[in-house]
Amino acid sequence: MPWKQLAQNALSSLGYRLINTRTHYSHDGLHSLHHPYFLSDPTFQAAYTRGVAASHGPDPQTHWRVHVALWAARQALAIPGDFVECGVNAGFVSSAILQSLPWTPSPRRFFLIDTFDGPAFHQYSPAETVAGRPHLAHASLAAGAYVTDLSRVQANFAEWPQARIVPGTIPEILPSLDTSEIAFVHIERNCALPEREAFAHFWPLLSPGGIILFDDYVYYGHQANTAALDEVAARLGLKILALPTGQGLVIKPGTGQSPPPALP
Ligand SMILES: C[S@@+](CC[C@H](N)C(=O)[O-])C[C@H]1O[C@@H](n2cnc3c(N)ncnc32)[C@H](O)[C@@H]1O
Repeated sequence: MPWKQLAQNALSSLGYRLINTRTHYSHDGLHSLHHPYFLSDPTFQAAYTRGVAASHGPDPQTHWRVHVALWAARQALAIPGDFVECGVNAGFVSSAILQSLPWTPSPRRFFLIDTFDGPAFHQYSPAETVAGRPHLAHASLAAGAYVTDLSRVQANFAEWPQARIVPGTIPEILPSLDTSEIAFVHIERNCALPEREAFAHFWPLLSPGGIILFDDYVYYGHQANTAALDEVAARLGLKILALPTGQGLVIKPGTGQSPPPALP
């Protein structure tokens, strides 16, 4: 028996599986034997490359998360309303979305909300503080991982007339947003309080069929997000779909469609 088979059998008897990370998808906390067909799609590649360019940095290897975001945003193009991103930073995901979608001339806008000054540290809960989230955020801020140069952000989005950069802190900034009909919201703040508040704020404004995508719903180390978002979802009679990428997805029932019945 070849050594590889022997190793596989031994590991399997211990409950492990051997994965060749050169031939299978293994990035961003996701190790999968499935086929990431989108990696060879030129539309995906161009969008992803534009996202990396916005970041001015190394490729974060978040292909599968970006694939989900592009799919959700594309679905939402069939729905009336504006697009929103809560937590933009340099504009990695939003630039990929803006680059890839066939924006026809329309009054649809893409609101891009961020402090552009890093996280609002007072918003971390005691549980998040114990879990080390503010410490991590301070380290990221010090390392320059959060963009604080607004002119850089403006230059990045200058090519898209739909883009509306909104500097401000969530939730305080939300009521000043000049929109009453939303088709797509991407929420990525890495902090439970503003994620929860953004979800509660935008759900009533979401058009039937509209989509909210949470970047960190079940992502490793973000258990506080899961609990906070589930609390809002329960109040609204919803269940968020947990994706193996760590993201969460919820779609507003279409016109004439009732929400699914509550579970016993
Ligand atoms: C992980 S980054 C977002 C990444 C971004 N979506 C991308 O595609 O690269 C989280 C962002 O949320 C912002 N942020 C955190 N708390 C916020 C709050 N309460 N209001 C507005 N922005 C906030 C931070 O400044 C940071 O830029």
